Amino acid sequence: MGKRILSPSILAADFARLGEQIKEVEEAGAEYLHIDVMDGVFVPSISFGMPVIRSIRSVTDRVFDVHLMIVDPDRYLKEFKACGADSITFHLEATDDAEETIDLIRNLGCRVGMAIKPKTPVEAVRKYLSKLDMLLVMTVEPGFGGQKYIPESTERVRRVREMADEMRLDLDIQVDGGITVEKAKIVLDVGANVIVAGSAVFGANITENVKKYLVQF
Ligand code: DX5
Ligand code: ZN
Repeated sequence: MGKRILSPSILAADFARLGEQIKEVEEAGAEYLHIDVMDGVFVPSISFGMPVIRSIRSVTDRVFDVHLMIVDPDRYLKEFKACGADSITFHLEATDDAEETIDLIRNLGCRVGMAIKPKTPVEAVRKYLSKLDMLLVMTVEPGFGGQKYIPESTERVRRVREMADEMRLDLDIQVDGGITVEKAKIVLDVGANVIVAGSAVFGANITENVKKYLVQF
């Protein structure tokens, strides 16, 4: 299994102080930055896009873990790479030809992630697993920060880790949505290794919050 990594989701940051807050999570020891792009079609809400990503690229060299909650992601992959993405995660439910999306991301030189929503059967990812660097098991319905962890997610994560182990894959398994420190312990235990946290990091004391996760690692 890959190493344990914290990927704070900037969706919960104060956008008026975004650069500053990114510096703070970086200095506290977070290795990735989780960047949620929403189009108002795949999910009900709209977040932000390329100009924001391009701007923050100049303040940090952390890994940009871009989570695309957009329909037909192939249209924009090149642009996300150009504005600074290191890893691009698309939703299985948002593309007609996942193999092609995987190849496009790979050919851009980015790490390849695939995400599944809570109601998508985990078996649906089996045939893609060997081509991915990361599988994102959504632990809330995508679309908004600050939601509650769906308890059934724990078994889903365990199942994906079993599949990856059976196939002898060194797969990163990411969890995203409602991952408090307490929930992080639970999912790390069943095989997740990349932890996304938004509202639980960008609260009152960012540095302290980050450290609370890192001690679990
Ligand atoms: C939800 C996003 C998440 C969100 C997580 O659709 O994909 O990354 O920012 O936020 P919290 O940790 O507050 O649930
Ligand atoms: Zn996300």
